[in-house]
Amino acid sequence: MHKVVRCHEYGSPDVLRVDTVPTRKPGPGEIRVRLHACAVNFPDILSCAGTYQDKPKFPFSPGRESAGQIIDCADDITEFIPGDRVMLWCASDHDGYAEEVTLPAKCAFPMPKSMNYVEAAGFMLVYGTAWHGLVDCGRLNSGEVVAVHGAAGGVGMAAVQVAKALGAKVIASAGNDDKLDIVASQGADYLINYNKDNTRQRMKEITNGRGVDIVFDTVGGDLMKSSISAIAFEGRILIVGFTSGEHIKAPTNIILVKWASLIAVRFGQFSRKYADRTQSNHNKLLKLYDEGKLNPYVGKTYPLNRAADALKALQRREITGKVILTT
Ligand SMILES: NC(=O)c1ccc[n+]([C@@H]2O[C@H](COP(=O)([O-])OP(=O)(O)OC[C@H]3O[C@@H](n4cnc5c(N)ncnc54)[C@H](OP(=O)(O)O)[C@@H]3O)[C@@H](O)[C@H]2O)c1
Repeated sequence: MHKVVRCHEYGSPDVLRVDTVPTRKPGPGEIRVRLHACAVNFPDILSCAGTYQDKPKFPFSPGRESAGQIIDCADDITEFIPGDRVMLWCASDHDGYAEEVTLPAKCAFPMPKSMNYVEAAGFMLVYGTAWHGLVDCGRLNSGEVVAVHGAAGGVGMAAVQVAKALGAKVIASAGNDDKLDIVASQGADYLINYNKDNTRQRMKEITNGRGVDIVFDTVGGDLMKSSISAIAFEGRILIVGFTSGEHIKAPTNIILVKWASLIAVRFGQFSRKYADRTQSNHNKLLKLYDEGKLNPYVGKTYPLNRAADALKALQRREITGKVILTT
């Protein structure tokens, strides 16, 4: 038997329950993993609330990624052996917040030797989204100016680091100065406090009126409006998330005149449809990690049985970087 944190109904994070469930032996193509750390992401809050695009059947565990050590492999598994340390990308299909999980080996990726479980648990989604957004969708070129909105969050901080590693000048925006100090320590070149500063004007000033080449927006609402009016000619605006809860009607006339693009980023969908390209992106990210160019920033950890508190802290905007559950 082992513990798993699950939703049995939709609602606030308080609906999460710690269940004790039977352990399952791996079937063909599967591995069993003892989890040491499980990542919490903003979409987990939406899954609990029943407002996320994917709606798994009840009861489900809202976590999407974790890290641990393999304790059993089916006879047909050749790529792993018990004892291997792996990071898991389970999307919404397998228990994400749990002490252990049995799942297809294709969900597991070897951990670099120098990475610990807490860093590994929260690596794949945020860096995968950052890379897919900036490179596949945004076609980032070295030397371009990238504005990352919501830069103190998990995905935002990863986007700052990936953009810097790829040679961009980075403007990072967040909602308070303490968070911005931390974002600056992660490599951002220019800072904007969107609760105090005029974001549109600052993006224009920083680029001497030219505008930003790429916007990586995890917040939406008014920031998206400012981004569209501060985008450079041929700029790319990446729609990543709506933590503000606000969606805008895009002024398509400005987008047309600027010859700009408004591009949807959907890492989960991309990883399901293009497993090979996702693996290739992941390998490039691990290379950057090995070179010391990516620095997973974990703001806080909670024990697994306090998953609801971790989600509520994220909801209250108390976390900078990642929040991780430990078993
Ligand atoms: N498109 C994709 O493929 C993809 C993949 C993963 C995640 N996402 C989306 O990306 C967004 C960020 O995810 P995440 O896991 O990085 O979240 P996170 O760690 O909670 O960061 C979100 C940031 O949004 C800012 N924010 C602004 N208004 C907010 C509000 N009303 N409530 C909460 N936060 C607010 C917060 O910073 P301040 O306090 O500084 O304002 C916070 O740092 C989410 O919308 C998520 O669904 C998209």
